[in-house]
Amino acid sequence: MVLQISPSILTADFARLADELDRIKDADWVHVDVMDNHFVPNLTLGLPVVESIVRATSLPVDTHLMIEDADRWAPAYAEAGARSVTFHAEAAKAPIRLARELRALGVRAGIALRPATPVEPYLDLLAEFDMILIMTVEPGFGGQKFLEMCLPKVRRTREAIRRAGLDVWVQVDGGVSAQTIQRCAEAGADVFVAGSAVYSAEDSAAEIIRLRTLAAEVHP
Ligand code: DX5
Ligand code: ZN
Repeated sequence: MVLQISPSILTADFARLADELDRIKDADWVHVDVMDNHFVPNLTLGLPVVESIVRATSLPVDTHLMIEDADRWAPAYAEAGARSVTFHAEAAKAPIRLARELRALGVRAGIALRPATPVEPYLDLLAEFDMILIMTVEPGFGGQKFLEMCLPKVRRTREAIRRAGLDVWVQVDGGVSAQTIQRCAEAGADVFVAGSAVYSAEDSAAEIIRLRTLAAEVHP
């Protein structure tokens, strides 16, 4: 299992995005949070900006869609050049059909769960996905406090993936920092989103290395 760091640009300076992307060029992915002010009480960016980000960085783009009506909008993010498209289980009417459509477009298909959404209904569907995102804050804003109570869900998800012999990545997102990343890795996460931890650091490149090293120390 390879550990990967996917910095979120949510707390970056949006007026200087090219420079901000340059600060994380040694990461594995760039995590782009798309919010529509309906699924979450915040509004960020959409397709044109994702297209610009794809052109401005050599990192693969990991889109996290916090939008309603994912069935209708998610495929356009694959067409915009994202390499991974994650939609919320709570916002998709037909998650299997949507995941198949995304894979047919040549991208990795991810499904995300809010803290209050149980993973159990999705455990039999795991083979349809390349990644499952277990939110460790209520989605909507950067800089929130890590929700410890989400970790048992990470653990159960990893166990189910292992039992089924699948290769599905487990992503954690929200409050991931040097203080919390080891608990996430211990629980079985292998893709770590970090927004404020990376962008509030003076040296973002060094922070990415630090996070990766801390996760690797404890990874099972
Ligand atoms: C929150 C977003 C996260 C956010 C994480 O809804 O999905 O990706 O940017 O920010 P931090 O790491 O600051 O919690
Ligand atoms: Zn996110």
